[in-house]
Amino acid sequence: MKLRILALALLPLALARLEAAGSLINAYSRQSLSLNGKWNVIVDPYETGFYDYRYQPYDQGPDSTAAFFMDHRPADKSELVEYSFDRSPTLMVPGDWNSQAEKLFYYEGSVWYRRLFDIRASRPGNRLFVYFGAANYEADVYLNGKKLGRHVGGFTPFFFEITNAVKPVGNSLIVKVDNKRHREGVPTLNTDWWNYGGLTREVLLVQTPGTFIAQYHVGLKAGTRDRIEVTVQLDGPRKQQKVTVTLAGLGLKAEARTDASGVARIEFPAAQIRLWSPERPALHDVVLASETDQIADRIGFRTIKTAGTDILLNDKPVFLRGICIHEENPMRGGRAYSVEDARMLLGWAKELNANFVRLAHYPHNEHMARVADELGLMVWEEIPVYWAIQWENADTLHLAQSQLTELIARDQNRASVVVWSVANETPITAERTRFLKTLVDTARSLDGSRLISAAMEVHGDKQNPDLRIVDDPFGEFTDLVSFNQYIGWYDGLPDKTARISWSIKYKKPVVISEFGADALQGWHADALTRFSEEYQEDLYRKTITMLRKIPAWRGVTPWILADFRSPRRVLPNVQDGWNRKGLIGQNGAKKRAFAVLKSFYDEIEQRAARGP
Ligand code: GCU
Repeated sequence: MKLRILALALLPLALARLEAAGSLINAYSRQSLSLNGKWNVIVDPYETGFYDYRYQPYDQGPDSTAAFFMDHRPADKSELVEYSFDRSPTLMVPGDWNSQAEKLFYYEGSVWYRRLFDIRASRPGNRLFVYFGAANYEADVYLNGKKLGRHVGGFTPFFFEITNAVKPVGNSLIVKVDNKRHREGVPTLNTDWWNYGGLTREVLLVQTPGTFIAQYHVGLKAGTRDRIEVTVQLDGPRKQQKVTVTLAGLGLKAEARTDASGVARIEFPAAQIRLWSPERPALHDVVLASETDQIADRIGFRTIKTAGTDILLNDKPVFLRGICIHEENPMRGGRAYSVEDARMLLGWAKELNANFVRLAHYPHNEHMARVADELGLMVWEEIPVYWAIQWENADTLHLAQSQLTELIARDQNRASVVVWSVANETPITAERTRFLKTLVDTARSLDGSRLISAAMEVHGDKQNPDLRIVDDPFGEFTDLVSFNQYIGWYDGLPDKTARISWSIKYKKPVVISEFGADALQGWHADALTRFSEEYQEDLYRKTITMLRKIPAWRGVTPWILADFRSPRRVLPNVQDGWNRKGLIGQNGAKKRAFAVLKSFYDEIEQRAARGP
């Protein structure tokens, strides 16, 4: 079936923002050369490679954008060169440095990475980009002795065009990665997770045609379940082209022409589309083509919205049977980064009979959302606006906005992603609420098709010690009322749950974004012994009983799927640098509470299957 629709003149604001940020969407599906593997590294705590002895940065000189450690080799025996990447040790990329070298376990500072590469064949007219899945926290990138640019933020992709900077052989790519924490940073100084540093995700050399499809959004037209809307953004000299979108599996094809800014919007009926849901995670092969480029993706189509206190997936009420996950492979004790890591973590969530995961507290790698698409898990994605951020600092706000923009640009075509979260456990002040409101506006302007939330705070009541109140002013701007509660762990013993009542200000779906208790896997005692599996098990049982009493309870993501490293957890022979609130231990073994949560989710699933 062939449809011709003229390009709409108006450039959608969302695409304007994403275009401004520059996009190289779905990089993993493009022709690319992987730079993963061993990189030579120089550990540089005093940043000798970046600042001169007057602490002036080398790469901001009037005539040079080179830093000091630029892979220079002595011309002869008398030339003084006091570093050598060739003779330096190596680290694996992708990977954090903390879990790769004992000496770097606690290291926070700069490490210089160097990778040599040749680019023998690139089609004439093609463009070349160096693409980073992420680097924690600040990355200064140089190629052949020249600065390409800098990226700040440890959990979102970035890239630089190197078409005119690359040579056929002997290219030297150097990245200074600095994971020092900053008061004005996002996250700020204090977190309850390990500050893994390094080139933590894949590095690719991505080749594209001269004019390529930089960004696209494919989804159901708002308010429909049988019309598809596609927005495409071209990048390159030939902005005005014919673009087509094909869903061969459904015999659907539509086309349009891009306007002067390279944007086209296409809309067409798709009556026979199979909607995506956790029960049936239907994905469709979608091919977007222009006259100069083509890109393929596997995309699911679904609607998500709230109605009163209900969450509706494809217009049916749904309970979010969830679990929180950190981006860590507990057995490796390091950052997770691969498809295999994603399959392991999300596989455990499926074993729990979960249909929802909260990826805490920062954007996880792209494989997580793609594997969640496949396995049928709805996803909550979050940016690390965590605890006490510098609310009045404009640069901090800009940083949070750019992380949110980069995340949405990367994952906006993932059916699994149903919630954008802009914060976790942030203290209630007017500046904070203003800051978070700005983030909500940013998210809504970029993507109006998903729910917006944050993990909010709960407080007590002077008159009634057993009353818990949720009236965070920020709740006015979110689609869900989500909050963390630790009754029975930080707040009393599990028995306390029986006498707690809730006052929740907003008539919106309530999603408990955290509850939990530490338990050392394999340690068994009575249910009142802290850190025993029995204590955690008992707390899960009693918390579920307590939460059932909240009329608008529509979801939960207990803290947390697996034990994870945290420098805040120092109890010897129990924590030893690990937060032990996982339902799965550091060794991958399940704790007793795992079965408690699973049987609750089985019950919820059976009840939903029986219908109202
Ligand atoms: C907090 C926080 C988590 C933390 C957890 C805990 O609520 O959001 O990041 O790890 O509680 O104390 O274990």
